[in-house]
Amino acid sequence: MPNLAISNKEDLSSKRDTVESRITIGFKERETWKDSSAIFDDHTLQIQGHPVMEDWEDNYMQQLAKVACSQGGIILEVGYGMGISASYIQKEHIDKHIIIEANRDVYERLLDFSRNSKVTTDTIFGFWEECITNIPDNSINGILFDTYPLSEKEIHKNHFSFFSDAYRLLVSGGVLTYYSDEIQDFSDEHTEKLRAAGFKQIDKSICDVEPPLNCKYWNSNTLMVPVIRK
Ligand SMILES: C[S@@+](CC[C@H](N)C(=O)[O-])C[C@H]1O[C@@H](n2cnc3c(N)ncnc32)[C@H](O)[C@@H]1O
Repeated sequence: MPNLAISNKEDLSSKRDTVESRITIGFKERETWKDSSAIFDDHTLQIQGHPVMEDWEDNYMQQLAKVACSQGGIILEVGYGMGISASYIQKEHIDKHIIIEANRDVYERLLDFSRNSKVTTDTIFGFWEECITNIPDNSINGILFDTYPLSEKEIHKNHFSFFSDAYRLLVSGGVLTYYSDEIQDFSDEHTEKLRAAGFKQIDKSICDVEPPLNCKYWNSNTLMVPVIRK
């Protein structure tokens, strides 16, 4: 049982730092995300000056992929980024992989990935908010959601607005996981949002991570892996 007082204190300080750095970088009009350049190097992805993805998250992505694929079947992934989780998903025993991505440069890489993928991969370009209603109810066995906040009000909350669609899309017994923005445990607000969407089986594991000291969005040595079942 973690020491909740200490864990919550650390949580608040970590979130304050990352909120400030994202606010300092600033947010442009949402639609501009689609056509902004995606700057890749060997270890990171930046868009509009934001640190969107970094490869120190590799083992976290591996754990998220394992959870998302634990029921096999059709896996929906939201946010392709550097394709790290997508590559892990392809190593699991699944029937189909669907990926939604909102940035055109990243989407070009996703198209290459889908042409060479072992498991059939369907790609969808756009914000998930625009295209999610095209995916039928009760049709998905596992979901891995990992986008990025595109406005100040979404910081540390960009997954919350997806929960009701996740519940609608999953088959009974299907599983949802996502970049949690939590160190060890669900905040009260986080649990409330999951319950409000209909989820009752709310579980987790903890993943050890080693972000570099200059990481602008995470400065703790663990990240929570949500295991949410319908
Ligand atoms: C953190 S990265 C994903 C990292 C990925 N899991 C990996 O392993 O490399 C977030 C991705 O989500 C995309 N994205 C951000 N907001 C989105 C939205 N509303 N709908 C779809 N994609 C979005 C970004 O363009 C970016 O490519």
